[in-house]
Amino acid sequence: MNIRDILKENPLVLAPMAGITDFPYRMICRELGAGLVFSEMVSVEALIREHKRTHGMLHTDPAERPVVFQIFGSKPESMADAARIVSQGAADFIDINMGCPVPKVLKSGAGSALLRDIGLAGEIMSAVVNASRIPVFVKIRLGWDANNIVAKDLARVAESAGIAAITVHGRTKAQGFSGNADWGMIRTVKDSVAIPVIGNGDVRSACDARRMLDETGCDGVMIGRAIQGNPWIFREAKQYLETGVMPPHPTDEERQAIMLRHLRDMVRLVGKDVGVREMRKHLCWYTKGLHGGAEFRTRINRLSEMADVKQEITGFFSALRSSAPVAQQV
Ligand SMILES: Cc1cc2nc3c(=O)[nH]c(=O)nc-3n(C[C@H](O)[C@H](O)[C@H](O)COP(=O)(O)O)c2cc1C
Repeated sequence: MNIRDILKENPLVLAPMAGITDFPYRMICRELGAGLVFSEMVSVEALIREHKRTHGMLHTDPAERPVVFQIFGSKPESMADAARIVSQGAADFIDINMGCPVPKVLKSGAGSALLRDIGLAGEIMSAVVNASRIPVFVKIRLGWDANNIVAKDLARVAESAGIAAITVHGRTKAQGFSGNADWGMIRTVKDSVAIPVIGNGDVRSACDARRMLDETGCDGVMIGRAIQGNPWIFREAKQYLETGVMPPHPTDEERQAIMLRHLRDMVRLVGKDVGVREMRKHLCWYTKGLHGGAEFRTRINRLSEMADVKQEITGFFSALRSSAPVAQQV
């Protein structure tokens, strides 16, 4: 699969998000319009030790392709071993995480820590590219902090190492998620390399996606936090990019159907106990801003039986329908 063609057809990319972009949610986003989906980050050390849960994270289905599996680690040999494992499966691409700012990941020398050691970052990229049977991407931040911006240099190193595409989150490690993503720097990276660049940071609507493409010249637009409880952002952005017209927001019926389907698929994948627990945050996000949502969220966080959760969802939407203002008879 050629990443350039994929992004040309549909530049909308689902971000890798730990605890969120698992198989059930990737399928939903893909069906609603994402052109390319990223997995949660997977630890190479756990993968190599054949950790059962970690291998479960590699679960996929032809219907979600093209799919990118993201790995994180700090040792070129382990990264290469993990790349062999991942590329023997059904993934289309491997992505190397060089942006995660979580202390536990940094302590192991992975994620954003690699922004401070371009030499090692380059070694890792070469090792993974050489070991992998499928194309390899890298996802970076701008640098460690405002005084150490390395995005342009690192992108060039990536290109020389044979990386097929680069995602740039327009913040430094020090920023975490604060401040605004610097789209100007994404443009700088785009102008510095010939490989496709996926822009990331602060895309919260279909209009933002259009603006990111126009302002940075990037090949793809990655959407992260705005997908929480809102997979329809892909449908809206896709239609808006294609026609300039914004489709209507999801109806309550669609919202209910996706919530029930998400619950069902999650439970199928990880079992009832874990599935119901994992779904709580999603169900809370899905009902943000809806009438009666706060009470729903309090109740849902106390339930542990799937049947009760289903009933709560159905009850919430029937209450919502009956509380909606009835159209005036003329
Ligand atoms: C809860 C959460 C989990 C994340 N997990 C990952 C991850 O596993 N790998 C990764 O590269 N980035 C991860 N990110 C960063 C996002 O992929 C993305 O770069 C960031 O949220 C900026 O994009 P946004 O402004 O659209 O949210 C995560 C972000 C959040 C909020």
